[in-house]
Amino acid sequence: MFLSSVSVIRATSCKALDTDDGLRDWHKNHETNVCRVGNRMVLPQLNPVKIGKVRQLELEPGRLFEVKTVATKPPIFLIPNFLTNEECDKIIQLAQDKGLARSTVLPTATIDKASVDNADPFYNAETFSKLDLDGDNLLDFTEVLDALHEHEIEIAEKYTTAQVEYILSIHVDINSDRYLTELEFRRIPAVKSIHIAQWLSHQLTETEEEARVKRGPHRRSEQTWLRVPQYDIDRSITNRIIKLTGLHPDIIKASDTLQVVQYNPGGHYHSHYDSHALSGSACQHTETTKTADNRICRYITILFYLNDVTEGGQTAFPVADNETYTAMKYMKNNKLVNPFDLANHCLDSNLVVEAEKGMAVLWYNHERDPQTGWLGEMNQFSLHGGCDVIKGEKWIANSWIYVDDNYELQMKFHEDRNLENAKEKAAL
Ligand code: OGA
Ligand code: FE2
Repeated sequence: MFLSSVSVIRATSCKALDTDDGLRDWHKNHETNVCRVGNRMVLPQLNPVKIGKVRQLELEPGRLFEVKTVATKPPIFLIPNFLTNEECDKIIQLAQDKGLARSTVLPTATIDKASVDNADPFYNAETFSKLDLDGDNLLDFTEVLDALHEHEIEIAEKYTTAQVEYILSIHVDINSDRYLTELEFRRIPAVKSIHIAQWLSHQLTETEEEARVKRGPHRRSEQTWLRVPQYDIDRSITNRIIKLTGLHPDIIKASDTLQVVQYNPGGHYHSHYDSHALSGSACQHTETTKTADNRICRYITILFYLNDVTEGGQTAFPVADNETYTAMKYMKNNKLVNPFDLANHCLDSNLVVEAEKGMAVLWYNHERDPQTGWLGEMNQFSLHGGCDVIKGEKWIANSWIYVDDNYELQMKFHEDRNLENAKEKAAL
């Protein structure tokens, strides 16, 4: 039995894809190009067409959903009432029952010894616990920055704290909670060698003014993780996501965790990316041995607003559809302000989305590779974050769709999962 479900995804031809229910509808309705390239699947990407374009999609039998394009670079869509009020309330309730905390990503036990042994010994458990003054196994982002600036003379001479913070926040802080777990802390040497080295090659020099770049306060939000069987018992939300994205159901079903986040007044996330740039290191979700330099590979973010925020708490995309954006210029041109600071510069963003209970925001963190049709480079324009909550509280949930840029590894991942599920079923 299970072999057939494995072969569906492995040997999918264009024809097979076209006859897959979800994708057939997708072809008909969504003006997207699925399939091709031999017998390999191609990642669907909803065509934004143009800003203001509105589609009516039947994501559930008999229920039409409005999908509105609000940016083309990256493609960003708003889907009002994607979740019902009851679904929003239930997710908040489940998160509260579970308890919100600063969550860790991976248990320390799974760190690959070799990669840690080779690393700069400064970034070890001992330093971590020394810096962790309150002993909660998390390092405040600001403390890490200070320690790093002190330890890394070469970096401190050339880069502002804001610039280093940028690298830390997009490449080290895997879950973007602005705290580092020990595992995240141990990623620093690997990340440093890839990204800071690239940076050094740009021959940036720090100017007086850049040195004065201000950092916003790093207030945290609370978060917890839920799994599909907890919050989506009848799989109706999952099915809507399958229809909306046009992705193979196995990909959606394997991305089955929901991150629920709560912000209080003053809470925010500065601008960041939800995914990591392609590099030699392996994607975390397909790897069986977790190492400190695993990447997070998130093709799509679907963010749900679970309540209406009294004031503030927008989601900002500072460089969406910016014609002249380059990361280097962006950092360098803003000498007196920290452009990543969404506590103070929310409204400077090109796109600002107001929170609205039940609405989903969907965007693509990666391009589709033009050659392979599979996961391509990260979309640099997908930079985003959450603005300061001014009044009231803000609840959101993140549903991240994980895709490995290595096609074979992604297929192997599904094959293993399907085998595992079949074994579990057989054992019942
Ligand atoms: C995130 C995020 C934006 C928001 O949680 O990764 O970008 O509006 N949140 O809260
Ligand atoms: Fe994010």
